[in-house]
Amino acid sequence: MLTLDRVTKTYRAGAFGGGSVTAVDRVSFEAAPGEVVSLIGESGSGKSTIGRMILGLTRVSEGRLTLDGHEVRPGKDFYRRVQGVFQDPFSCYNPVFKADRVFALIRRAYHPGVPDKEWADRVEKAVRDVRLDPGQVLGRYPHQLSGGQLQRLLIARALLLGPSFLVADEITSMLDASTRIDVLNLLAGLKENGLGVLYITHDLSLGTYLAERTVVLRRGRVVERGDTQKVFGNPLHPYTRTLLAAVPRLNTPWTLPEPLEACAFHEAGSRTDSSDLYETEPGHFVACAGLPDCGRISA
Ligand SMILES: Nc1ncnc2c1ncn2[C@@H]1O[C@H](COP(=O)(O)OP(=O)(O)O)[C@@H](O)[C@H]1O
Ligand SMILES: [Mg+2]
Repeated sequence: MLTLDRVTKTYRAGAFGGGSVTAVDRVSFEAAPGEVVSLIGESGSGKSTIGRMILGLTRVSEGRLTLDGHEVRPGKDFYRRVQGVFQDPFSCYNPVFKADRVFALIRRAYHPGVPDKEWADRVEKAVRDVRLDPGQVLGRYPHQLSGGQLQRLLIARALLLGPSFLVADEITSMLDASTRIDVLNLLAGLKENGLGVLYITHDLSLGTYLAERTVVLRRGRVVERGDTQKVFGNPLHPYTRTLLAAVPRLNTPWTLPEPLEACAFHEAGSRTDSSDLYETEPGHFVACAGLPDCGRISA
């Protein structure tokens, strides 16, 4: 279980360290193996910062980030369990080397003792697991492969270490529609096999339907989170409603969501959790939106 407990990231801003930016503000959620959690929010809302903190690439300023109860300590043992794949597959390859060099680097760092033949078999299996034909992709240069193939090779590389969690930061953003569906199918299969996935996205795309649970982030804070069906079936925060309204529906004219006058949940006598969210029904948490008629402004 990967657990974020009031995780906060403050970046120093300005050349002389004068100002600071709170990119992530007391964010709490959990991700379990075999489950997809989608982290959704507009650009700049702090999603990648959360992904980078989970991967130990950025330090946590405050709060606790634990894996099975132990504080996250980046290192080989940790990276065997938690791996990341990012938005831009092209930037992960050196154009002068063949694309499968990414596998060789993993071998050198993690499996130096594995004999050549066995390693080749493992790579072939990992490549097949991401539904690529080893004969078509191995031994090629990055410019000879498509964005979807490169992205899947990076997923294969991450999976070679047999992690239990994958941080997938906008991994389908640069892919065309049919390749995107291939990658999502792949994630669905990996989830069935027990992989936990943090699926980071800036829009309500197909991937969010893979997710058992959803965390909606705005300006570094969680505005709504919980079971995906509850969050999107009964969105209570104005921002979540706006996200839903931005999804086109065929055969239905587009309309703006009805404005809310007060947070819909204050009257329900809902209780708060440790992140200042209101639990409006079991497994559905919402932040106060600070609407004029709330009377309890905390946004
Ligand atoms: N290394 C950094 N130094 C200072 N500010 C940063 C740094 N990385 C990100 N930020 C700021 O933190 C906020 C969140 O960024 P990011 O996590 O990349 O958001 P997202 O992935 O949701 O677009 C933004 O305001 C961004 O400018
Ligand atoms: Mg980002």
